[in-house]
Amino acid sequence: MSARKTGEKIKNQKCVATKRFVGGKPTGAGANRPAGGRNQISRRNNLFSKPKIMYTKKVEEHFKHPRNMGELPNPTASGQAGNPVCGDIMQVQLEIKNDTITDAKFKTFGCAAAIATTSALTELIKGKTIAEAEKITFDDIVEYLGGLPPIKMHCSQLALNAFHEALTAYKKKSK
Ligand code: FES
Repeated sequence: MSARKTGEKIKNQKCVATKRFVGGKPTGAGANRPAGGRNQISRRNNLFSKPKIMYTKKVEEHFKHPRNMGELPNPTASGQAGNPVCGDIMQVQLEIKNDTITDAKFKTFGCAAAIATTSALTELIKGKTIAEAEKITFDDIVEYLGGLPPIKMHCSQLALNAFHEALTAYKKKSK
């Protein structure tokens, strides 16, 4: 191989490697040919591929068709919770009459599990007295949805935190 060809090869390798690290999909000639051959391909796939998250049919259903999404015109109380790590945030609003939750709505900026768990929570608390609704746990929500992937368990805790914030606000108000 001539010195010129070797030089071009090295130049091309640097170019492909740089594009890989900036995270953009390389384009143009040689874009699909990584610099280091097969080992480089599998190392790259291991570094950048995300594990596939499997949801139950019920989680998918609540994610695609969330129940009680939106805002109440005159909420009795509302609560908000967020996760600074993932940046997700949710708000739960309650309408309470005679210590019974007559209506509940939510808004979520978050992942599929966050949407599904808050949707499930509103279904579980509607029609319950405050005392009954307070007993709903993280496990009840997960069970209602037929399970959650371990990596997504914290999402159901976030829905519950927002609900408990709303309950605290209600109790303060009614003192
Ligand atoms: S990943 Fe943040 S609530 Fe689901």
